[in-house]
Amino acid sequence: MTATIRPVKGTRDYYPEDMALRAWLYDQMRHVSELFGYQEYQAPILEPIGLYAAKSGDELVEKQSYVFEDRGGDRITLRPELTPSLARMVAQRQNQLAFPLRWWSFGPFWRYERPQKGRTREFFQWNIDLIGDPSPEAEAEIVAIAAAFFKQVGLRSDEVQIRVNDRRLLAKELESIGIPEQARTPLLGLIDRKDKLSPEAWILQTKDIGLANAQIDSLNELLANKELWRGSESLERFFQAIEAFGASEYVVFEPSIIRGLQYYTGTVFEAWDTAGEFRALFGGGRYDNLVSDVGGKPVEAVGFAVGDLVITLLLQSLGRLPELAKSPTDVFVTLFDVSLRDKSFAIMNALREAGIRVAGQLTSEKLGKQFKYADRIGAKLAVILGPDEAAKGKVGFKVLATGEQGECTESEMIAKVRQLLEA
Ligand code: HAM
Repeated sequence: MTATIRPVKGTRDYYPEDMALRAWLYDQMRHVSELFGYQEYQAPILEPIGLYAAKSGDELVEKQSYVFEDRGGDRITLRPELTPSLARMVAQRQNQLAFPLRWWSFGPFWRYERPQKGRTREFFQWNIDLIGDPSPEAEAEIVAIAAAFFKQVGLRSDEVQIRVNDRRLLAKELESIGIPEQARTPLLGLIDRKDKLSPEAWILQTKDIGLANAQIDSLNELLANKELWRGSESLERFFQAIEAFGASEYVVFEPSIIRGLQYYTGTVFEAWDTAGEFRALFGGGRYDNLVSDVGGKPVEAVGFAVGDLVITLLLQSLGRLPELAKSPTDVFVTLFDVSLRDKSFAIMNALREAGIRVAGQLTSEKLGKQFKYADRIGAKLAVILGPDEAAKGKVGFKVLATGEQGECTESEMIAKVRQLLEA
């Protein structure tokens, strides 16, 4: 026997029930995007690797990207994220577009990471970005969208939290405690990993970067100071707008949020489950240089991306995933035998022409098996045509959940089916 060929490690097979869940998530994302007036767009799956080399950061480009040479010898990558493609699309039509752009997208991405809980090599992201508005209120709108999404999928503010920081504020504070410029970039990387380090490792590594004991103390104080944002004009305005947008219960200031991607220039944010059981639910921030980095004119931008995996795991662990229909079948039409086949098929056709979703038996089979199948695919109703019914110009029906049975004339069938489906 031939062994089943295994899928590529870390890729995803979407069986119909998985696909139904993905479609549900997509619907929630579309709903929230449109509530805020955002337009949907899509970018290619394949991009030149140089697009990311511009600014995404070494880890994403050198360690995590799927790169290959195409038949023409170009170095191509399966997109590991969307933001550089978005920047490229904006740069290409900068003179024609109506700024600020409010754009969203949903689609697959690939990163060569070690598959683990909440991380795979193929995943889906919802990206939503606001381009061409430099204000803190633009950042607040983007974060308010994230909060609206949490509300939409039924996640409460005691279950998830959006943690916001500003890289500019942190850079200023690091300067004020005397951290030299060349130490700041490695230190930001270290702060980004702080929660993965033991307190001892944290101290050792800050010393490796060249920090003195007093500086480490000041840094620890700084990172524990949840009031640090007060006095920053842009963060004050940000939090005021967040309040007015009705999102403040979900949003907190957190000075240790840095984010790994290099292109962020200002506000950065991540969402986490408050129980701390999962990885980040999403991440984003302001990236004012990316469009010019890929060849456009400078334009300010802010946005975020939510992966499909962690949010699904979290909703599942809270028992908050919706009950989704097993299949789109409302009615299953049975088949008695070959002599009644054409008549059964004509019934299927009449129901479909009336807009009712029908699956039907195509080959002879025991009636019991047909009912069992109808039940397994989640049909609500079976329409039965046997010789007795056919002789009387009637059809039988059975409500699968209750077992209730009856019959009606063929001409009454559509109205009867509609009435039973609505009940
Ligand atoms: P990111 O933090 O690299 O940001 O990814 C955003 C989200 O994508 C993560 O929080 C996570 O939910 C999901 N994600 C990333 N990698 C994986 C993986 N291997 N498996 C499962 N889920 C994953 C960005 O991608 C930025 N481009 C977001 C952005 C949009 N910034 C501005 N606009």
